[in-house]
Amino acid sequence: MAGQHEMRDGACPPGACSERWPMDPVKTDRESSEKIAAGKRDSLTVTDNRTGKSYELPIEDGAIRAADLRQIKVEEDEFGMMSYDPAFTNTASCYSRVTYIDGDKGILEYRGYPIEALAERSTFLETAYLILYGELPTKPQLEEWTWHITHHTFIHESIKKFLDGFHYDAHPMGMLVSSVAALSTFYPDAKDIFNPDSRRKQTYRLIGKMPTLAAFAYRHSLGLPYVYPDNELSYSANFLNMLFKTTELKFKPNATLEKALDVLFILHADHEQNCSTSAMRGVGSSHVDPYSATAAATAALYGPLHGGANEAVLRMLLDIGSVKNVPEYIKRVKGGEKKLMGFGHRVYKNFDPRAKIIKQVAYEVFDVLGRNPLLDIALECERIALEDDYFVKRKLYPNVDFYSGLIYQAMSFPMTMFPVLFAIPRTAGWVAQWEEMLQDPEQKIARPRQLYVGDRRRDYVPIDERQ
Ligand code: CMC
Repeated sequence: MAGQHEMRDGACPPGACSERWPMDPVKTDRESSEKIAAGKRDSLTVTDNRTGKSYELPIEDGAIRAADLRQIKVEEDEFGMMSYDPAFTNTASCYSRVTYIDGDKGILEYRGYPIEALAERSTFLETAYLILYGELPTKPQLEEWTWHITHHTFIHESIKKFLDGFHYDAHPMGMLVSSVAALSTFYPDAKDIFNPDSRRKQTYRLIGKMPTLAAFAYRHSLGLPYVYPDNELSYSANFLNMLFKTTELKFKPNATLEKALDVLFILHADHEQNCSTSAMRGVGSSHVDPYSATAAATAALYGPLHGGANEAVLRMLLDIGSVKNVPEYIKRVKGGEKKLMGFGHRVYKNFDPRAKIIKQVAYEVFDVLGRNPLLDIALECERIALEDDYFVKRKLYPNVDFYSGLIYQAMSFPMTMFPVLFAIPRTAGWVAQWEEMLQDPEQKIARPRQLYVGDRRRDYVPIDERQ
């Protein structure tokens, strides 16, 4: 079956092949240092108090270039000044045109379109197109794009055998990381990363096959037969079909749940230079194929501080157990014993706009499926935290993961599937950021520096003489 679909890879659906690819290179309107040195642009003057020398560093787009610090040195033969920024809290690693975030104002935009408008009016596949191509598609473009994605949903039958090798209780995120990496062995043409046609095909495959891999991982954990994709269904409905179809001839999703999942996919589609996207760009910068880079990004997302937080929130709410236990739990959080999972964000310091939308979606889902009993515990955590000085002072607010787990649980997803539900839509963002990185002439293999503070050259000590 996989072959049947792959044979049509090169073909377009009826109508013109109108897709614009590759994307334009990321805008690099940086002006020359000469112009800046001539005083036509902003600059920063730094005085090195060790030598009394002053340096003028150009400011471009509100930043100085870390490499410009290298001229600051005491001795001519030394390496020069570096900036130290563990966890990259204040370092821009790239120019990007994909996603804009203003963390203080709670703004999130994909390609300039507010997340609120996309959640209300767009679909995941349309949003994925926007993220990748930079513009909302016309009707024929959307049809063509949808055709390509739905005709790359099948996976090679050998991948099923590969998935069968996992233990019955294997975490689906571990299975997803491994199976995405394994795709590179099925598509060796993916190594041709400087060929736009090849990149386009891998993009279709990645966005098309992630839900299939995820659903197969889920079915494996239940010992259920795999359900093949149904190309007549929408992206999110097909995913629900592959997860939940049993004996019915045709899976018919509940429209509210299909829409809710689609909105959740839109909200998770990209989030600029977070941990997993940085992994995608960093690993991709070695010019490895995109499946291997996506596997690295998926692994980064697995962690409880990132995409694994939605699973961690649910576990926390279950651990709290009842509304009356919330104050005690908050006390432990304030004592540094625990974290309030689903709270806090590196960038958002006012509110996470995705959390606001998700809370609304949660109520719509609960109207259909009944109220999740953990909701009251979550609401009480939120109520106390938003009034408590500890959280207010640190600007800790509910993030995207605080309510998403409650929706997923209500929709019958096991907790282990929550991070997988994040990885599926984020693939669109990862691929767009990877494209942008490859086309940015300033990007090279990622290679941070270090400040070495260990021992220096020592004499080797034979084992018998060691203390
Ligand atoms: N509960 C309790 N205290 C917290 C929390 C929390 N969830 N988050 C941050 N703090 C405290 C932290 O201990 C620190 O306190 P102090 O100044 O006294 O040392 C202060 O707030 C600043 O936190 P930070 O760790 O320096 O902030 P960060 O930007 O490094 O971390 C974060 C951001 C999201 C990793 C962190 O807030 C966190 O661990 N949250 C819980 C996990 C979570 O919900 N992650 C999902 C993030 S959103 C989805 C995604 O993009 O992946």
